[in-house]
Amino acid sequence: MKIMILNGPNLNFLGIREKNIYGQDNYQDVCRYIMDRFDNCDIEINIFQSNIEGEMINILQMAYLEKYDGIVINPGAYTHTSIALYDAIKSINIPTVEVHLSNIHQREEFRHKSYTAPACIGQICGFGKEGYILAIEGLIVHLS
Ligand code: DQA
Repeated sequence: MKIMILNGPNLNFLGIREKNIYGQDNYQDVCRYIMDRFDNCDIEINIFQSNIEGEMINILQMAYLEKYDGIVINPGAYTHTSIALYDAIKSINIPTVEVHLSNIHQREEFRHKSYTAPACIGQICGFGKEGYILAIEGLIVHLS
């Protein structure tokens, strides 16, 4: 099973940005945490990050061409703006789970709407980095 994790804008600044909301761990810590949790499983996990919307679309199209089985996406702020990412997720037809570290529904009103979630099989938010683990576990159940 081949799973892609795709993180969007400013997530590479974890550990620097708004630590009271996103936690103390830096981006590398979070990536390592995810990889370590699935170390002994027969799953290939590859993590990508981009601050650029079009580049995220290129990465999603690569997931199609490279035959990924599932995707975990945290589109960052593009969640609340991007019809292009919605279209990209719909285009590739790969089960995708949306993750947010914070509970977007508890925050500013502009974060309550997700353009991308309707293209996904589910959304997990509010559990910090554990959300990525829950999303991968959800994908494994969905795919088997
Ligand atoms: C986020 C929530 C978004 O609203 C925000 O723009 C982010 C991070 C999260 O993981 O909680 O950049 O996706």
